[in-house]
Amino acid sequence: MARVSVGLEVGAAVVKMVELAHGKKAPRLTKLARVEIPPGLEGDDRKSAIIKIIKSLVADHGMNPRRVISGVGGESVIVRRIMVPTMPDEELTQALRWQAEEYLPYSLDEVYLDFHVLGRGKKTGDETSVMLVGVKKETVDIHLDILKKAGIIPQILDANALALFNIFEFSHPQELEDIAVVEMGHSTTCLLILEGECPFLVRNLNFGGLHITRAIAEKLGVDYSRANQLKEEHGLRIEQPEGEGVSSDTAAEISDQIKKCMRDLINEILHSLDYYSSQKGKKIKKIFISGGSAYLNNVSGFLSGALGLPVERHNPFVRIGHNPRRFSPDYLEKEGSFFAVGSGLALREVARI
Ligand SMILES: Nc1ncnc2c1ncn2[C@@H]1O[C@H](COP(=O)(O)OP(=O)(O)O)[C@@H](O)[C@H]1O
Ligand SMILES: [Mg+2]
Repeated sequence: MARVSVGLEVGAAVVKMVELAHGKKAPRLTKLARVEIPPGLEGDDRKSAIIKIIKSLVADHGMNPRRVISGVGGESVIVRRIMVPTMPDEELTQALRWQAEEYLPYSLDEVYLDFHVLGRGKKTGDETSVMLVGVKKETVDIHLDILKKAGIIPQILDANALALFNIFEFSHPQELEDIAVVEMGHSTTCLLILEGECPFLVRNLNFGGLHITRAIAEKLGVDYSRANQLKEEHGLRIEQPEGEGVSSDTAAEISDQIKKCMRDLINEILHSLDYYSSQKGKKIKKIFISGGSAYLNNVSGFLSGALGLPVERHNPFVRIGHNPRRFSPDYLEKEGSFFAVGSGLALREVARI
């Protein structure tokens, strides 16, 4: 029997579950669900709502609570590729603790540290390439507490950014060189720059659908849920140049607001693209977008114009087997980008238990 693993992404707005069966051949998609967290909740109310949703995934969607791989994301997760002198493993851990301080915006006792050796130098004096992951303890502890109260002890706790990298590497093995992947969620956006087999750069940025909805609500003087509805209905209008003659037409106003909101994000992306060019002497060729905010109308065209690069939506399921009667290719093409992180989490096979 094929073993299953369940990727569970507790996002800022939506809980996503992806179950994959790992057999001899390519992984197969066996379950998929996404449930929105009621907006506007904070603190314990929000926690309780998430716990209820996770319990409903087990009770109503048959999610196996013993096969879960979950992840943490957002600004409190720092992922850096660093080079250190080659040394024995026991010394490496200690050396990385020293080095880590330089790369983390938090003090060492506030974070959990993990690292993964990407490429080891052959002899003393060579350099070893390491992926360093530092996550604020508070973020991990809150997440684990929610899962535990929902009856789940995850087999693995990953960084969402690495799950995103893993699924992209799996779904687009021919396009790993000079590519940027941008996952735009509700409150954060994760930017990866890929230079082949490992990410060159990983950044978690403070931008998402939440910021857009709030800006629309403020501009139009409507409540959050109406603003969200308007955002999803209209999205962007690309024919109108940014900032030019704000018309009284609601659709144009919404589009203008979204463009304003995205300005900082675009600058951050451009900055990272320039950094890549200056370090590597070559340019990024293409950008893949995913996450719920990748469904804004015309966002690909808008980003493509602003960044001067082709932009395509990332469908994480292109190389994952599925029964077309249960999951129509049309549905996966249309909704797939919501599940990029979830499917990346589920790709990590869980040991037999
Ligand atoms: N059709 C759409 N147009 C614009 N925004 C959308 C659309 N569908 C979903 N979103 C936005 O996507 C965000 C949720 O995306 P998701 O990737 O699930 O976020 P998270 O993982 O942070 O919970 C919300 O801000 C939601 O408003
Ligand atoms: Mg997300």
